[in-house]
Order: sequence, then C-alpha cells, then structure tokens
Amino acid sequence: MDRRLVTIERHIAEQQQQFPEATGEFSRLLRDLTLALRIIARDVRRAGLTDLLGSTRVVNIHGEEVRKLDELAHDVIFRAMDHGGHLCVMASEEAEGLVHIPANYRRGKYVMVFDPLDGSSNIDANITIGTIFSIYRRLDESLDTPGTVEDILQPGYRQVCAGYAVYGSSTQLVYTTGLGVDVFTFDPTIGEFLLSHPKVRIPPRGSIYSVNEGSFALWDERLQQYVTYLKTPSPDGRRPYSLRYVGTAVADVHRTLFYGGIFMYPASRSAPRGKLRLIYEVNPLAKIITEAGGRASDGTGNILDITPVDIHQRTPVFMGSAEDVTEVEQFLQGIHSFQQCADVESV
Ligand code: AHG
Ligand code: MN
Ligand code: MN
Repeated sequence: MDRRLVTIERHIAEQQQQFPEATGEFSRLLRDLTLALRIIARDVRRAGLTDLLGSTRVVNIHGEEVRKLDELAHDVIFRAMDHGGHLCVMASEEAEGLVHIPANYRRGKYVMVFDPLDGSSNIDANITIGTIFSIYRRLDESLDTPGTVEDILQPGYRQVCAGYAVYGSSTQLVYTTGLGVDVFTFDPTIGEFLLSHPKVRIPPRGSIYSVNEGSFALWDERLQQYVTYLKTPSPDGRRPYSLRYVGTAVADVHRTLFYGGIFMYPASRSAPRGKLRLIYEVNPLAKIITEAGGRASDGTGNILDITPVDIHQRTPVFMGSAEDVTEVEQFLQGIHSFQQCADVESV
C-alpha cells in the first residue's frame, strides 16, 4: 500500500511535471472542477434533508424556486468554472445550446462538457448517482473569441481529460489525462480527495453483464442471442454471468471498471439510437474504460472515433472488458450466433 499522502492537488501538480510545456493552466482548471465536485457531493449528501426542509425553503436567496439537484449541480459547475480564464465554452446536459463564458471574464483554450448529475431518477431512493465531465482543447488555440459548437463537436479520442465523480457509499473521483486511470476517495473529515487506487486496470474479461433487460423484447435479435448466451450455463463454468444494473451509468461503469464484464445501453425499438448522450456521458466514460485497458463500442466500431453532429446526440454503447466487448460485437455483426435449444451446452 502506497503510504504517501497524495491529494488530488499534489497528483495534478506531479502529472503536470510530465508535460514540460505545461503552463499550469490545466492544473488550475482541474482544481476549480474539484471544488465544484466537493460542493455537489455535499448537496447530494443533504438532498434528503433539503427535501424535508423543502416546504420551508421554497424560495432561495436569489428568489428562485429550490430547483432539482441536477439543475443545482449544473449551476454549481457553471459558477465554479466560468471565471477561471481556462475555458472558451461549455456544454451541459442541462442546457439546450452552448454555455458561454460571461463577457466580463477572460476566456481560455479549453472546452468542458458535462452531465452535472447522472442518474437523477435515483436520487429520491438514495441510490448512487454521479457527475461526468470531459475536457478538450479548442480547435484554434490562437483565438480568444467565444468557443463555437465545432469546439464542442470533437471526437472522443481528442479528450485531454475525462472523468466522473461517483456519490456512493463514499464519494470518489476517477479521472485520466492519458497517463492511466487514477481513483481518489473523498475524506470529508479533512475535505480532501486522496489517491486511493492509482493506475486502475479493468480485467480483460468479467462475469457480470449490466443492461436494462426489461427492454429485451425491443432489442435486435442478435443482441437477444448474446444475452441469452450469457445466461446459458457453459461446461467451463464461465457462464451464466450475473446481472447487475443500478440505472446510473456512472455507478454501472464504475463497477465494471473494478470488477470487469460489460455495460450496455443498446438501441431498441423504443430508443433507436439508445438513450445515453455521446458527448457528455458516453465519451468520458469510454475514455476512462479505454485508458484502463478496456473497450467501448457502438456495436460496430470504437466510440471514441465518432465525430458528433449534435451536442445532445445519443449513441448505443457497449463498454467494459475488452474480451466481452469484442464478443458482443461478434454477435451483433453476425460472426457468432447462439440458438439456445440447439447450442445449449450441458453443464
Ligand atoms: P441522467 O440522470 O443524467 O439523465 O442519466 C440517466 C441515464 C444513465 O445514468 C443510466 O444509465 C440510464 O439513464 C438509465 O436509463 P433506464 O432507466 O432507461 O435504464
Ligand atoms: Mn446522465
Ligand atoms: Mn444528468
């Protein structure tokens, strides 16, 4: 066990030393973001209490309605990131168009996209939720004009940083700048994110699949075959897999990162492009999984190679252990098939 006391600030500074040309601007951007995540973690931990107190705090100090936690999280991130001079534009699940830097603040060369509160339908049941973010360089770094939609619509392989916060039994921050995936656990007694799991690697194959199987009847027949295959006992005992599904992408992907297996949000007759948004949910999570040695596919190719055409576009996604993702691709492309009656293997 590494006995060093590595705060996220120390980690960011040490990583910066590996980039000789670094100016420290990126480090300051990350520091501002970790402040926002600390504040959201605090608000998430009090969400139930806020609800209880909601009847007496109907109007907040700005005279506005007490808003949903995801809108609150959006506001916290905006106010933490709008003035640092590092960003030229942002995009958020909670904003239809571009989120501009106020004219009275200096603009920088980075772009940030984020899902301020992922899994918000789980809040009222006190189930794990998260925040997802990723950072790009703007397309033309010589400009100091407001960022454009083209700066947002970059393919995922161009992310310079990707990560998420997961508000579970503890609050953890997981991020990568391309030097591996590091996990920090928040210690509320000292208000610090401490490095708890350096350079996490995903197992090459797992034994868990994660999908909303309630939509089984609406899936492509090849995907139905794949999931039926996972549930059919095999002589080597590798199958059946277990099913785990939280319904918060951050939580399901975080478990997949540590335990292996596959997370899927596929297309279906009711969701022809799936449900998850490419830019601020799938790409950051795909970058983390890929950096940890896993794979992220839309069923035909690498998620990170997709060039987006719309801020809120959706994509089917299959991500996790490399061997599991390759296997589902082989089913979806008709290379593998499985007829339960004919192929059922005696256990
Ligand atoms: P968000 O709360 O940001 O809208 O995201 C919710 C998403 C994602 O977190 C999760 O994987 C998915 O919704 C669950 O959808 P289903 O309830 O359709 O399974
Ligand atoms: Mn989400
Ligand atoms: Mn959300």
